Amino acid sequence: MKISCPKCQSLLQLDIGPEKFHCGSCGTKYSRTSDYIDLRLNDEMDTLLDIDSYDENHGVTGDAASCQLWRFYEKLLQRLGTNLQGRALEIASGSGHLSLGLIAESNFQEIFLSDISPRFMQLLRRKLNQRPEPKAEIISFLFDANYIPFDESSFDLIIGNSVLHHFATFESTLKSAYRVLKPGGVAIFGEPVMDTYVFMSLAAKLIHETCQLLTNHPLNQYDLMIVKAMSELAGVQMNNLRSSRLDLNHIEDKFVFPVNYMRTTSEEIGFHQFHCITPEVNNFSSVVKTQFARIFEQQKIDTTKIDYFNYIFDSIGDVYGGAMKEDLKAAFSFFAFIKK
Ligand SMILES: C[S@@+](CC[C@H](N)C(=O)[O-])C[C@H]1O[C@@H](n2cnc3c(N)ncnc32)[C@H](O)[C@@H]1O
Repeated sequence: MKISCPKCQSLLQLDIGPEKFHCGSCGTKYSRTSDYIDLRLNDEMDTLLDIDSYDENHGVTGDAASCQLWRFYEKLLQRLGTNLQGRALEIASGSGHLSLGLIAESNFQEIFLSDISPRFMQLLRRKLNQRPEPKAEIISFLFDANYIPFDESSFDLIIGNSVLHHFATFESTLKSAYRVLKPGGVAIFGEPVMDTYVFMSLAAKLIHETCQLLTNHPLNQYDLMIVKAMSELAGVQMNNLRSSRLDLNHIEDKFVFPVNYMRTTSEEIGFHQFHCITPEVNNFSSVVKTQFARIFEQQKIDTTKIDYFNYIFDSIGDVYGGAMKEDLKAAFSFFAFIKK
């Protein structure tokens, strides 16, 4: 197994002894600790997320939830006929929401964990130290996943939960995923989807307009300000996709992905197959309403106020829900890229 230098992309042996080492071709210095091999191009690279409150705010509740999450991915991967043995790479493991399940329950012989954030990786290593000895060999890395720094044909599986939308040039992540996957290998990422998100913004626009006409609605000035911002969110996210990506470095959640954009990107890179796998949805109006409510919750606004506007969500559900393709009807879907 070889590392590809993130700076000049020449290959380094993974068997790196000393605490500090450098690329033989371009001289870039890297380091390792007992927790991880650090392939970041500078020590400043980190997440903007609040690590201390991450688990509480993101439903990371412990091993049972992690195993359930891994089993969900495993089922999707089995449906695609993926080889669930060999070497797996998890991109942007964070505090281990998916990693703990992947390590406890999968049959991979080697599992590589990675993140850009040393503090997240230390937290995850601490959790792992409190668990029984894993069956797999676990190696942890720090790197900026806009480029995946390994030799070609290194992995059977690349997996990431809620990660690609954090990477300014996620297309390069996918390009390097193609390079480092073995033939027949699969990359799978659970990500937010624009095709539904846009209806959250439409609902917000209609609610805002309604409140300009009525006096007896339940929203106060602050709520209305948030609703106005929500009505513009889908447009903002689309602009991020078209923008000069370097401008996005100060934003943690950079994108919401149109399924068709991902399909085209997959074809351009040369993946043999692309799938957008959507959890089963029976009521599109509740998908849109739930997404709307999630933003209210984040802004600490009473979500029961939304019920007043149920007719808007129901109308969207009736008109669009009936007409849309099933694989577009979720707020969070799973993009799978298969290499021939
Ligand atoms: C929403 S969290 C997801 C964490 C974990 N996968 C989970 O399911 O909870 C996003 C993760 O992306 C990491 N991240 C952000 N930018 C990154 C980058 N450029 N390269 C690698 N990881 C990055 C963050 O440190 C964080 O761990």
